[in-house]
Amino acid sequence: MNKVKIAGTGSYVPDNIVTNDDLSRLVDTNDEWIKSRTGIITRRISQGEDTSQIATKAALKAMEKAKVLPGDIDFIIVATATPDNFIPSTACMIQNNIEAINATCFDVSAACSGFIYAMDIATQFIKTGRANKVLIIGAETLSKILDWKDRSTCILFGDGAAAAVLKSGDEDGIISTYTGSDGRLGDALTCRAVSVNNPYVDKEAEKFNPVVKMDGKEIFRFAVKIMQKTINKLLHDSGCSIDEIDCIIPHQANFRIIEAAAKRLNISTDKFYIDLDKYGNTSAASIGIAFDEAYRKGIFKHGDTVILVGFGGGLTYGGSLIKI
Ligand code: COA
Repeated sequence: MNKVKIAGTGSYVPDNIVTNDDLSRLVDTNDEWIKSRTGIITRRISQGEDTSQIATKAALKAMEKAKVLPGDIDFIIVATATPDNFIPSTACMIQNNIEAINATCFDVSAACSGFIYAMDIATQFIKTGRANKVLIIGAETLSKILDWKDRSTCILFGDGAAAAVLKSGDEDGIISTYTGSDGRLGDALTCRAVSVNNPYVDKEAEKFNPVVKMDGKEIFRFAVKIMQKTINKLLHDSGCSIDEIDCIIPHQANFRIIEAAAKRLNISTDKFYIDLDKYGNTSAASIGIAFDEAYRKGIFKHGDTVILVGFGGGLTYGGSLIKI
């Protein structure tokens, strides 16, 4: 089996900063409530850029870091719940933008766990020799599927994109990966697509109104439990103890979820890299944005052991234990 390393990362968020006070002018909320219940202070909201556009910007940065040419990319895997179109895939649009003419391109739908799922798929392709260089991207313009009148959801999310180039190398970077799904809990976080509508359907079609609906408490409970389970599984599979982990990059949904998971794991929240105060929950992009930001800040050094861990709609979950 080939060894897989992360050769470079990149991220991009729209310029437009929306504060909690800004949101209090749209819905009945306030800075104090949002900050104390979630930890979020600002988020970036697109003023027109769509998912493929912000994803392209993140991808170009990751490719530059990895010193990889577009023509050398074998696969482009995009995790998103907010594609530009049903057809073509966001991955194919990015392929066209960056001229990665030799790549096979497809999207992955795993909501906020998407970056981990994409990383896992890329890892398998490289390990088996099917690919040498894979560009993975988590990108969302969640703002286009939010109900901006629903204070229980519109305050949580932000737009953004993150990318990483994975390639075969002489050192193993991805030590263990664990993923799972629980479709029984699918109703806890939904966004309806188009209903079946054709000349053979009797009843009138539902109006197309794709907005996020969420049972916040159900997700909260699931998230805390599954973060603990995923981290413990990664530690077990890689033979590491929690003390050997230098940093945990969690999905950036809510500071209180991270705090509760840390308590269950008997570790300090200081072990977690957190940037949700600035970007909110950027869904499939969140882990990648935090990972890239931590890299750029010089938080990691060669040989560090890092855990990425996430959860999301589906419900889905997953994590990776990585050697930098
Ligand atoms: N501003 C002010 N008040 C708000 C509010 C807002 N934005 N949103 C809800 N409230 C109110 C509620 O109406 C409720 O009022 P009531 O007591 O009069 O009925 C009160 O605040 C408490 O609401 P509740 O839903 O119990 O709050 P909570 O502590 O569970 O926090 C979430 C709500 C959404 C922040 C929390 O459940 C959460 O983060 N869940 C996980 C969501 C998530 O991560 N989703 C993405 C997964 S990838």
